[in-house]
Amino acid sequence: MATSEFARLPGFRDFPPEDFALRAHIQDAWGRVARRYGFHQYDGPPLESLDLYVEKSGEEIVDQLYSFVDKGEREVALRPEMTPSLARILAARSRGMSKPIRWFSIPQLFRYERQQRGRLREHFQWNVDVVGEEGVAADAEVLAVAIDGLRELGLGAEDFAARVSDRRLLSSLLRAVGVAEERLGGAFSVIDKVERLPPETAAELFEREVGLDATGVETVLGLLDAVDLDALFERWGEDERVAPELERFREYLATLDAMGLGAYVQLDLRIVRGLAYYTGIVFELFDRQGELRAICGGGRYDRLLELVGGEPLPAVGFGMGDVVLGELLAERALVPDYEASLDYFLVPVTAAERSMALGLAHDLRDRGHSVSYALREQGVGRQMKSAAREGARTVLVLGPDELARDRVVARDMTTGEEREIALAELS
Ligand code: HAM
Repeated sequence: MATSEFARLPGFRDFPPEDFALRAHIQDAWGRVARRYGFHQYDGPPLESLDLYVEKSGEEIVDQLYSFVDKGEREVALRPEMTPSLARILAARSRGMSKPIRWFSIPQLFRYERQQRGRLREHFQWNVDVVGEEGVAADAEVLAVAIDGLRELGLGAEDFAARVSDRRLLSSLLRAVGVAEERLGGAFSVIDKVERLPPETAAELFEREVGLDATGVETVLGLLDAVDLDALFERWGEDERVAPELERFREYLATLDAMGLGAYVQLDLRIVRGLAYYTGIVFELFDRQGELRAICGGGRYDRLLELVGGEPLPAVGFGMGDVVLGELLAERALVPDYEASLDYFLVPVTAAERSMALGLAHDLRDRGHSVSYALREQGVGRQMKSAAREGARTVLVLGPDELARDRVVARDMTTGEEREIALAELS
């Protein structure tokens, strides 16, 4: 069978070392930042029962599930996101735990997506969640972790921004402009799409799906363009349904300002998030140029734990994928060069020095050095070439004359300088 018949599945990635290095670079930064904020790492199984996602995640994700019936007749699915697993895990064990719970994870997730730039069928996603705290300090803390995750990788306020909103605030505004309670869900799903639609189509959908007349449509579109909380206060600050929501949002923004992160955050009521479980503040992080898909998305989901049978606990968190982020890092020349590197490469000159080389290599490795050598007998020239290819900083040449004096020749591969050193000096 030709090798092409074993081609990688579309939307999946191989990670040869030079690509694995970027994956590790990103994941290491994520882990460092999460720990810096006092989060603890967890994981769950990559396969879950299908039920966990049906209804909890929302239509879009359910349509993209990799699901099948296993040999025990169970309907199962590869995890498309981590939040339902987190809710399931905590539903079973949160009662005895002190709150708030700060957990993070870096699962590989699977979604049968239509292939497009920034979207694959598997990705790694940094999940950071605070469970058991309903105040906006938790929302701000979680967003700060996401922002710092990107700053840790060298990105700044000129590269990306968080677009933030609150489903409660948006609901109160929509009610205030006359959207009926039972039409709120419909309004949210139109708003979720509004950026990708031509204005006439958006207007038509608002009329048809939300029951707004032309003036109503104009008012809602005006609201969605708002970028300034003060302007919303001016217009709606006296409305008793809207005012408390505006106040809460102001406190959220003030918390982020106090952290020194104000420059990364902008109000954007068009952010509602596609997933079904969000209940409050929601956000997405985008590149400033607006060329790429969302880097990160998250928000508050105060009812999910109860929905999966746990104690009713408020929760807030985000997921940040490695695909769009990798593209952005490449665009900004922030991907570190991949270079093979090794502390020592050992070169026995004749077969007689080979067992000495094996002993010395083992010794150096025990001390934490990285060491390699040719796995078969070769001439010194060939061995030196391998040493250079493997990025050795120092080559130790084990020759019969030097060894007779308990010494080896150390060659510095950067300067080309050679000097004799005593074996005792190495160990
Ligand atoms: P999400 O918006 O579906 O949220 O995904 C979060 C991020 O994961 C996206 O912004 C994107 O970077 C990445 N992502 C999603 N799908 C793909 C894909 N097919 N290919 C590449 N990257 C992708 C969630 O999953 C929520 N569970 C996040 C969350 C955690 N909310 C609260 N806690």
